[in-house]
Amino acid sequence: MAAQPSTAALAALKDALGPGGWLESAADVEPFLTDFRRLYHGTTALVARPATVAQVVRVVAVCARERLGIVPHGGNTSYCGGATPDASGAEIVLSLARLNRVRDVDAGGFTLSLDAGCTLAAAQAAARAANRRLPLSLGSEGSAQIGGTLSTNAGGTAVLRFGMMRELVLGLEVVLPDGRVLDQLKSLRKDNTGYDVKQLFLGAEGTLGVITGACLKLSAAPGDYVTALAAVGGIGEAVALLGRIRDAFGDAVEGFEYVPRIAHELALAGLPGIVRPFDRPHPAFALIELAVPGAEPGVGDRFGELLGAEATAGRIRDAVVARSGPQRDSLWYLREHVPEAQTRAGASIKHDVSLPLARLAEFVARAEQVLAGIAPAARIVGYGHVGDGNLHFNLSPPAGVLRGSAAEREFLALAPQVNRAVHDLVAELGGSFSAEHGIGRLKVAELERYEDPVALDLMRRIKVAFDPHGIMNPGKVLRR
Ligand code: MLT
Ligand code: ZN
Repeated sequence: MAAQPSTAALAALKDALGPGGWLESAADVEPFLTDFRRLYHGTTALVARPATVAQVVRVVAVCARERLGIVPHGGNTSYCGGATPDASGAEIVLSLARLNRVRDVDAGGFTLSLDAGCTLAAAQAAARAANRRLPLSLGSEGSAQIGGTLSTNAGGTAVLRFGMMRELVLGLEVVLPDGRVLDQLKSLRKDNTGYDVKQLFLGAEGTLGVITGACLKLSAAPGDYVTALAAVGGIGEAVALLGRIRDAFGDAVEGFEYVPRIAHELALAGLPGIVRPFDRPHPAFALIELAVPGAEPGVGDRFGELLGAEATAGRIRDAVVARSGPQRDSLWYLREHVPEAQTRAGASIKHDVSLPLARLAEFVARAEQVLAGIAPAARIVGYGHVGDGNLHFNLSPPAGVLRGSAAEREFLALAPQVNRAVHDLVAELGGSFSAEHGIGRLKVAELERYEDPVALDLMRRIKVAFDPHGIMNPGKVLRR
């Protein structure tokens, strides 16, 4: 087990941070010790809370000298335990929460420069105030921080049109494990000057350095949203519908989310305020959103006509178009509360997979078949960002299983077998076992099993080149 920080090291860290710059009492550090899904519980002697980049540099320098592990911590919304220290007490937590300044909004240049500790919601608000838009949307945007969304290359509900976080990054500022600062906080659209080093930190989950600032691309503020819910027979129908909508509306299509009936039922049973959009149940819904600049006349009508024609032709079962902001909000409320509804239905076995669109339906059919042999009574709740090929293919315990019961433990004990079956199938079909939630601590073995060995070898070499003493977020992404 690694050594606990010495009294002298802790004193040096406090000195680097200044008054109010750290937490150390058991009660104060407690919220930093457990991950969002409560899969991991660690311990730490100190939570550093730097308010400036210079303080981050000083903290990292002390940790480098003392060989102390550093666990960067943003909004603690990781699904893979990426921001939780281990149980040794040898790692310090580095909270970015006080590093939360918007540095510059350039409306003419469509860019936003900001500190890593700004929440995603605050960053969106800063863009909105300049009549611009930061087009990354997540259910957890109120707490997720920019540094975390960069470090995990977050996805969300508008990837279909705007791509993942990586695609929104123009510049980056990173404190390296040796205490130097990589200052690539440029706002340039064109910059072909050798290796694009900053890309390595996007998705690295804090294992190569601490992201302290970024310059992000903004887009035009949308004039209007057109949002609809289509009732479909299954995922194949949904994917086919998406194709026809994209043919008709091109890049205006920015969201296409899939909610199967079981997810709707869990939400209706477990949460207040969930709508029943149709007068009878359907196998699944597709939540579709188009965004148009200015007040482009007729788009809503044209979209309504397309859905009407789809229903008449029997290619979908029904559809509603939101006629107001509150109606739109209630459709999104339903989609965004599926994870919470599933949590209320008991502990789940989660998968965050992506497949080529053309193989999604085959994946679901084959996975259901395989799982019927492994966990026959489990409830499969496969929902998500189908527009970009990403499905949260989660399993809930059989109906009636109580939290904490022996039956729940029996169900959870199937996780290794279930994960292997799902991820092997994903690999066979050319997909990814981690579409948007990253690796963290949870999926290190999966990365070793499914990643191309050459890529894995390069990752290990990059880690050693950047962080030879292994102090940055030890044990996350790669085994220590
Ligand atoms: C979502 O899309 O709702 C999130 O990624 C959460 C989840 O996987 O459950
Ligand atoms: Zn998601």
